[in-house]
Amino acid sequence: CGIVAYVGHREACSIIIKGLKRLEYRGYDSAGVALMNGDLNVYKKKGKVSKLENYLTDKDTHGNIGMGHTRWATHGEPNDRNAHPHYSSSGKLAIIHNGIIENYATLKTLLIEKGHTFQSDTDSEVFINLIEDIKINSKCTLVEAVRLALHEVVGAYAIVVLSKDDPNQLVAARKGSPLVVGIGEGEHFLASDATPIIEYTSDVVYINDQEIVVIKDGELDIRSKEDVKQTPYIQRLELALESIEKGGYEHFMLKEIFEQPRSILDCLRGRMIPEKGHLMMSGFFEYENKFAKANRILIVACGTSYHAGLVAEYLIEDLARVPVEVEYASEFRYRNPIINENDIVIAISQSGETADTLAAIELAKSKGATIFGICNVVGSSIARATDAGAYTHAGPEIGVASTKAFTAQVTVLTLIAMIMGRRRGTIETTKLNQLMVELESIPGKVEQALQLDEQIQKISAVFKDASSFLYLGRGYNFPVALEGALKLKEISYIHAEGYPAAEMKHGPIALIDEHMPVVVIATKDSSYEKIVSNVQEVRARKGKVIAVVTEGDNVIPSMADYVVEVPETNEHLMPLLSVIPLQLLSYHIAVMRGCNVDQPRNLAKSVTVE
Ligand code: G6P
Repeated sequence: CGIVAYVGHREACSIIIKGLKRLEYRGYDSAGVALMNGDLNVYKKKGKVSKLENYLTDKDTHGNIGMGHTRWATHGEPNDRNAHPHYSSSGKLAIIHNGIIENYATLKTLLIEKGHTFQSDTDSEVFINLIEDIKINSKCTLVEAVRLALHEVVGAYAIVVLSKDDPNQLVAARKGSPLVVGIGEGEHFLASDATPIIEYTSDVVYINDQEIVVIKDGELDIRSKEDVKQTPYIQRLELALESIEKGGYEHFMLKEIFEQPRSILDCLRGRMIPEKGHLMMSGFFEYENKFAKANRILIVACGTSYHAGLVAEYLIEDLARVPVEVEYASEFRYRNPIINENDIVIAISQSGETADTLAAIELAKSKGATIFGICNVVGSSIARATDAGAYTHAGPEIGVASTKAFTAQVTVLTLIAMIMGRRRGTIETTKLNQLMVELESIPGKVEQALQLDEQIQKISAVFKDASSFLYLGRGYNFPVALEGALKLKEISYIHAEGYPAAEMKHGPIALIDEHMPVVVIATKDSSYEKIVSNVQEVRARKGKVIAVVTEGDNVIPSMADYVVEVPETNEHLMPLLSVIPLQLLSYHIAVMRGCNVDQPRNLAKSVTVE
């Protein structure tokens, strides 16, 4: 879901439509705009932004102020009626809203009693009617009505409101959902993230939770919920426009998969120079001591970031000998977890906006834990909510299915485990040096692994019609199996399950027959012999084995139906290589099945709802 709004000297509509397209990657099911040109006109459609654009061709879209929205359905099915913007009952106000208003049902009942009428099933329409109700009853300005309404709604929001009576003014507010203001020459932009803004200006202000923004007559005014004027902190963005465009690739996902040698290098830059024994992350430096003394590390994350967390569990326990627990943020926050002051919580999030991860951070904070964030999006909510952190520097990730963010997260976590191990004396210097040298060679080895592309395309053609896949791995490759299965599910809609290879005997083995492709990640590591037996178990049940092995392996190729070879590396670093063929496999299968790879159905890039 995404928000774009504009006020300035240009035609608002084209800027908004282009901006909505830039936000498409966040995931959505319908789109709409509100434009002020004499009247307050709302146009909205279920489906893609291009459909809305077609719909607008015969409409009068002139005007210099307006707002647009892409909706990811929460309350009410995706259709034209439930799409945003929503009018208030009088038709004088319109709103776009990201997030969820939890007490919308109670508010709606009250508002209906007072005579308000509703056209949609959304909580957002309740929000705008609440604002209108307050405005009428308190005879106050729109800004004041928005401010008072914020005190009554429970939940998360980023909103923009337009009013017919104040045709030159944009009013916006946020709590829990991101909002950025772009400041140009005599023009202002509002958006969920900077991607719609960067081609016009690099000066941005990230709005904080519970702040209200008013843009009028070329002036930006930010206030707290208590109406105290705030000084905007203007930041200069360093995003290049190319970084959010496809650059010759058919899909963003493919571009991002192929960017990994570079993104891992960017992630390592300045943090590690093996020949000088230099190993340091600036965001981590002052916390090294705390990490070294930690009784326990808790990792909270969702989706792919959770899988990066699982890799970290192996890394940190192995190299630094500190117990690690990895949890889905959504489970962690609702189960009254035990958190002590000497615990460190690492929150991992590509977008830095995932609602459950943010809430888990707040909970851990309230219990006195130190929070360390690993985020990709600079200036994101999680980056700002944590005590300290490290950016993954993977660059904007537009494809909904995460690829380069995962390898960058694993890279940062590897650095953390190594630094902790050094500080705690749990890793020998020679081993640490070897590991550093090996880590430095990873970008080159990822480059090599990417050459598997053609071979994987052929394998994809064989299995593209399978109805189910099993992914098996052990040790460091177990989280990779989970990640491989997630990638396939997300973009090809084929059911897939990741499992610890040995655990297969306790269930999934019942599913195996000649129709079941089983991807086994069987690189040379401490559990290699064991996984060879697992491959045989699959073969004995006629399952089709696609094995990911270490270059030069001469055992598994004689058993597997298909073999892809990744370069040899230390087992601690193997996930950075073994995940590459799995990303490619899911990509090609999805393309062959005609799926929308970059914007898979029902998924969102940034899940700002709980
Ligand atoms: C969504 C995305 C996934 C991502 C997950 C966690 O489900 O589609 O790709 O892994 O959210 O997001 P985060 O931004 O917190 O890493």
